[in-house]
Amino acid sequence: MARISVFGIGYVGVVSAACLARDGHQVVAVDLDPEKVRAVNEGRSPIVEKGLDELLERMVAEGRLRATTDAAEAVAATDASFVCVGTPSAPDGSVGLDYVRGACESIGRAVKAKGDFHSVIVRSTIVPGTMTGTCIPALEQASGLEAGEGFGVGYFPEFLRESTAIEDYDDPGLIVYGSMDDRTTAILKELNDHLPCESHLVDVTTAEMVKYTSNSWRAVKITFANEIGNIAKACGLDGQQVMRMLCSDSKVAMSPAFLRPGFAFGGSCLPKDVRALRALARTKGLEAPLLHSVLEANEQQISRAEEMVRASGKTSVGFVGISFKAGTDDLRESPLAELASRLIEGGHEVRIYDPYVAIAFRDAASANRGNAVVPDLSKRIETSIEDLIQGSEILLVGNNYEEAREPLLGAVGQQPIVDLTRLDRSVRSNGTYQGICW
Ligand SMILES: NC(=O)c1ccc[n+]([C@@H]2O[C@H](COP(=O)([O-])OP(=O)(O)OC[C@H]3O[C@@H](n4cnc5c(N)ncnc54)[C@H](O)[C@@H]3O)[C@@H](O)[C@H]2O)c1
Repeated sequence: MARISVFGIGYVGVVSAACLARDGHQVVAVDLDPEKVRAVNEGRSPIVEKGLDELLERMVAEGRLRATTDAAEAVAATDASFVCVGTPSAPDGSVGLDYVRGACESIGRAVKAKGDFHSVIVRSTIVPGTMTGTCIPALEQASGLEAGEGFGVGYFPEFLRESTAIEDYDDPGLIVYGSMDDRTTAILKELNDHLPCESHLVDVTTAEMVKYTSNSWRAVKITFANEIGNIAKACGLDGQQVMRMLCSDSKVAMSPAFLRPGFAFGGSCLPKDVRALRALARTKGLEAPLLHSVLEANEQQISRAEEMVRASGKTSVGFVGISFKAGTDDLRESPLAELASRLIEGGHEVRIYDPYVAIAFRDAASANRGNAVVPDLSKRIETSIEDLIQGSEILLVGNNYEEAREPLLGAVGQQPIVDLTRLDRSVRSNGTYQGICW
């Protein structure tokens, strides 16, 4: 069992402290606010949260949890510190790091005075790069020690929801943490391995990003449901009933499908249907700002890919895929066709490998398959992937074709590649290989 100090007796800190004590750990809670410290030491919860009053009273009475304002004393009495202080918005909307910096400085000074290894595990919500750019420098400067050597470092975001905080602590939907040393990893494993949820061990910056992704995703879901509800009501419908139907689709709508970062959406349905729903909303006097920004963001993803090709300085581009997805010859509103047309207009020479579109042209010379934007499409088709690779200065991977994968992987590192689909999970942007979101 571990000895843990919890910095910050707020919503996150006090729940963590009480649950850690209940699970058999020896816990010291720390806060700058003497009132909160007094409340805990008297067995009273400083916040309203289901089940917390009873738990806190029992833990304090059994001597497993106490509170103090003295950071040095708390660090000296424990093996690891959790940082659960607030990160309110700064006036410009960026994350406010004053409390986190302050807590790291006082823990750093206390670690120096302790003269023994101590793990510092941040739980506050902090933007990617804060551990390496703010927390670790503050700890190193205050302690005079090196992170990972003289003291341990971890980032372990909290996902609990107020009002069900204790239930969420015991049955979390996601556990992710990053650590810079084995001793901190061992503590995080000990605290989490008994829980009914897989633990993901990643680097600290990825863990920081996962927390923001989770909160932003929840915000987007709420806003989407509200926007649909508003449009439904304006049509005389029950918006909650509509969303219930959508949520019953665990195969597509409520599954990981379409949640893989990559290129823009297109095809004969999504763009026209989002446009139509937005237009319908307008006729009902509604703005539908989320649907509006969906189309705008999609457009920007095409521009982003265009810029990646332009930035290479190469003029002859080999497209792998031109239809709106692999396995079809459908070119209607294909974002790859739009991208090709913009590059051609900008003076690039574009050749295309797309086996499905090639079949369409072979079987019917006049085949168009909805292409409205790429000039001389049939003359640009290359039937051999090897010829496309050899004849292009830069390759643009837009669709995945099984037979093209090995030759393209062989070209990674050999010639410039812009990858919009991800040829392989092991490849990341590096040198001449650029993945659009990885
Ligand atoms: N509230 C939630 O539901 C929730 C859920 C997940 C994550 N988070 C994140 O967890 C963090 C804490 O949130 P909260 O709602 O518990 O905050 P809070 O404002 O309720 O509590 C923060 C506490 O930290 C104390 N504090 C500030 N500086 C300190 C220092 N140097 N030493 C000791 N104590 C110090 C404050 O006095 C305060 O009591 C935030 O980053 C938040 O975004 C919150």
